Amino acid sequence: MAFDKQLFDSIIEEFTVAPEELRTIAADFRYDLKQGLADPEQSSLRMLKSYLGLPTGKEQGEYLALDFGGTNVRVLRIRLEGEGKFEILKKVAKPLIVEGEYDYIGASSTKDQMFGLLAELIDEAVEGNHEQKYLLGHTFSFPSSQTDVNNARLIIWTKEFATPGVEGEVVNDLLKEALDKRGLTNVEPVAVLNDTVAVLLSAAYKQSGTYIGSIYATGHNTCYLEPNVDGVPMILNLESGGFMKLLPSRFDNVIDEQSEKPGEQRLEKMVSGRYMGELYSLALSELLGTKDKWKSYGFTAIDLSGILADEGKERSEVQKIVAERTGVSLTAADAEMARDLAVAISKRSARLVTATFVGIIWQLTGSGKVQQQHIAVDGSVYEKMPFVKENIMRALSELLGEEAAQVDTVLDNGGSGLGAALAAAMARA
Ligand code: BGC
Repeated sequence: MAFDKQLFDSIIEEFTVAPEELRTIAADFRYDLKQGLADPEQSSLRMLKSYLGLPTGKEQGEYLALDFGGTNVRVLRIRLEGEGKFEILKKVAKPLIVEGEYDYIGASSTKDQMFGLLAELIDEAVEGNHEQKYLLGHTFSFPSSQTDVNNARLIIWTKEFATPGVEGEVVNDLLKEALDKRGLTNVEPVAVLNDTVAVLLSAAYKQSGTYIGSIYATGHNTCYLEPNVDGVPMILNLESGGFMKLLPSRFDNVIDEQSEKPGEQRLEKMVSGRYMGELYSLALSELLGTKDKWKSYGFTAIDLSGILADEGKERSEVQKIVAERTGVSLTAADAEMARDLAVAISKRSARLVTATFVGIIWQLTGSGKVQQQHIAVDGSVYEKMPFVKENIMRALSELLGEEAAQVDTVLDNGGSGLGAALAAAMARA
């Protein structure tokens, strides 16, 4: 078959963010940020207080770090050595869902199963030691409203998590209960923080000049150091994935309607790894003229990366991946278009994410000059998806002009764990 060229062009057009649109999005993001500082009710950004500033770099001691935010849970025992140095003493991990075996994130799971698994992993990380006292930092990567560094109430699940009984609860109470049940009374949770905050702490521990932290993975979100919150510098978790002033395509609208939480996380659903493969599925099914128009072929962000990485003339890898998912063998010409579709979706993602970074930079800069700085980013999309970093750099230049030279993005791999340990140390400083 040959794809309908007109339809193809119109789809690509829908996924294209033109330069003036990019600028408007960055400006709107800045506007929402400003509104949110005055009154979060007036903004599509949640602007959640972390009760944390940046680390001094001198933090020391041994801590437990629980990293909970995706389908894989990790617990680390970390020794902070100061001067940006640290050592991982132990690392254990377990998925919250294993197909055909168990699922602790679906609607039929229970909070006891979920938090029971966390306690089980913590037990493994301390190697069954129920005597020695441990302070624990908990990276909890969902929108939570905090009253202090240790009290975080889950506002709403994102990333299609659906475990009942957790929304509206104080997560540390649930964790404490699960720890007590296992006899782990020697483990004391002292800090809860978002993964973006953890990444910022981790990057700032190692390198000064970092004020923005972001996750670009299954989910997406960004935080930054606001110089003045009630008189002190404090990291604010923007929950930027909830930003709304966007021009969604018809595919984005379908994804939203079919999601666990329609109307929520509109930016996240346009840019993050959890949804990009799905967007690709929907658009491709239209091109393939599939009967069930909104058929999901189950493409993932990993498939998209594979498709993007195929720079060969024949696009044989594209053909292979598409055939595996859809059962259709594409001609070389159609495979070319199928790759262009992946290019358009991932490029849009990187451009939208960059517009939010620039919105923050504009807000921090005011009418002055952009300060030299690093934006710390962690996550599989940023790290592994081809051309994402280049597209971010290009969009930064487009929006900041010459001043883009002041800004770079740095990968802070695994920052969630180190950040949690730092938060625990800072909470007890
Ligand atoms: C959550 C954020 C989190 C991000 C990255 C989003 O779905 O709402 O709190 O930072 O995912 O994990």
